[in-house]
Amino acid sequence: LIHPVLLCGGSGTRLWPLSRKSYPKQFARLTGDESLYQASAQRLSGAGFAAPTVVAASDFRFVVIEQLAALKIQPACVLIEPEARNTAGAIAAAALALEARTPGALMLVAPSDHVIPDADRFRAAVQAAAPAARAGQIVTFGIRPDRPETGYGWLELSTPTADFAPDPQPLRSFVEKPDLATAERLLSGGMHLWNAGIFLFTTTAILEALERHAPEVLAPVRQAVEAAEKDLSFTRLAPGPWADLPDISIDYAVMERAENLTVVPYAGAWSDLGDWQAVWREAPPQEGGVVLSGPATAIDCHDSLLQATNAAQQLVGIGLTDIIAVAMPDAVLVAHKDRAQEVKRAVAALKAKG
Ligand code: GDD
Ligand code: MG
Repeated sequence: LIHPVLLCGGSGTRLWPLSRKSYPKQFARLTGDESLYQASAQRLSGAGFAAPTVVAASDFRFVVIEQLAALKIQPACVLIEPEARNTAGAIAAAALALEARTPGALMLVAPSDHVIPDADRFRAAVQAAAPAARAGQIVTFGIRPDRPETGYGWLELSTPTADFAPDPQPLRSFVEKPDLATAERLLSGGMHLWNAGIFLFTTTAILEALERHAPEVLAPVRQAVEAAEKDLSFTRLAPGPWADLPDISIDYAVMERAENLTVVPYAGAWSDLGDWQAVWREAPPQEGGVVLSGPATAIDCHDSLLQATNAAQQLVGIGLTDIIAVAMPDAVLVAHKDRAQEVKRAVAALKAKG
């Protein structure tokens, strides 16, 4: 059995005003009827999968359970973090909790905010990765890069993948979030894939790797898990030791340092859906490249996204090109599509204003 671990921590500020600190993007219905979190849980359920472990911030403890209940999925364990400390700590906590229940369990760590439309194909890639993971490898999933993205990790292949079959191969190296010049070089070199941010390994393999490469992460998490308070629904990690946990992602803490890395190429569609440009890019193509959602109307517009979320408020665009417009009852965003990454700056500016 493969034990899914769903990470629900990030607040997705680049998708403001839809994504809020109090209601991040993975729980919102960005596209379709299900939230991204629900789609992730659904994708990793059924034959071959155990009940999921969820790692979430306290603010989201009810929504993570409710949205699973709507799918008739009962989590095996919901770990509540006293504070967000990035993915290394969250993954370490899940590994320790799982190891206590099922020693040596195979765990699949998955973000809750990705779009992977072909669930069957994705599950097949996970199955193809299982033997290497059982043998002690840390398995990553590689996406064919099509732009010099600096927001992702890059995986160095040992042999080129001409046909992009999901055959596991050893990784030469892992580069997290390179600068633009490096990303351009990696893209043109043809020997790198994007890190999908999804990992398969045994609890034993990841705990050993954390012990070796990031003992400063493992030690406080171990104490926080041992001193956790459990009730019927939640396992609350102990705040005392958690306060000593460094804020670091698994990519920097383990992946860039580990030597037992394997990659399984994934040729199906995948998107991080990290900003509005990605939401526009991933939406089903419409005439003139205009994506409309809710009570929105476009007249003579091109390559733009008009998203209205309030049934009582019409959003109308005339003669727009490369524009993102998102209307919420209490906030409206209008931005150039190429500057979608900068929404993060707007959120910081609003926060500073109070
Ligand atoms: N529980 C919990 N606690 N989850 C967290 C925390 C935390 O403190 N921080 C982040 N997460 C969750 C996010 O909600 C998201 O689902 C996932 O972990 C990844 O975090 P991101 O912050 O979105 O990472 P990233 O997108 O910058 O980079 C990662 O993903 C890329 C692909 O999308 C890296 O793994 C990159 O190498 C990778 O290319
Ligand atoms: Mg992400």
